[in-house]
Amino acid sequence: MRIGEETRTLRPSQITDWCHEIIRSQASEGGFYIDATMGKGNDTLMLCRLAKENGRVLAFDIQEEALRITEAKLQEVGMDHLAELILDGHEHMDRYAGEETADVICFNFGYLPGGDHRIATSAETSTEAVRRGLKILKPGGMMSLCIYSGGDTGFEEKERILCLLRTLPAREYTVIVNEYYNRENCPPMPVFVFKRG
Ligand SMILES: C[S@@+](CC[C@H](N)C(=O)[O-])C[C@H]1O[C@@H](n2cnc3c(N)ncnc32)[C@H](O)[C@@H]1O
Repeated sequence: MRIGEETRTLRPSQITDWCHEIIRSQASEGGFYIDATMGKGNDTLMLCRLAKENGRVLAFDIQEEALRITEAKLQEVGMDHLAELILDGHEHMDRYAGEETADVICFNFGYLPGGDHRIATSAETSTEAVRRGLKILKPGGMMSLCIYSGGDTGFEEKERILCLLRTLPAREYTVIVNEYYNRENCPPMPVFVFKRG
């Protein structure tokens, strides 16, 4: 395998693999993609692979550690020039991207894996970011959301995001909420929002 190539074994048991698979199946290459929760850069890297040389990626996080880890990850495969890493909350993403410009916006809520669990996404800022993200999405674009609940995360964030998505007009958006139906202990929830073209 060459540097920068990706193995494509689908593991639907992993929420991020499932979301990546749906994004790749829907989004065309060379577009404009936003990673709203950079973390360790796995989603940013997937979006850079989709962007290739003609596309671009914006990635947000509020922790410098996330930017450092992600930058190193992208440098390792020679893709750091494709992404702009922004130290700011995703609830401000409309300061960096115009209305109806993004092909894909990707959220993976929660805390930095291996980091401080107290620094995490919150119901208030996450719902605001989703609201603003929907305006930034192009007609025909999609939003992918990995939503967690239980444990340190609690339930408020998940409930508020789902409440917001339920109110979206069906003639403008298709909202698909997936479930790991036979799993115990508050499994994560993959959600997809498609803005009609
Ligand atoms: C589960 S991690 C993301 C995982 C990541 N996508 C990856 O591939 O590793 C969630 C991230 O959201 C970040 N975060 C928390 N609040 C945020 C906010 N308001 N805006 C942007 N990022 C935020 C956290 O710092 C954390 O790094």
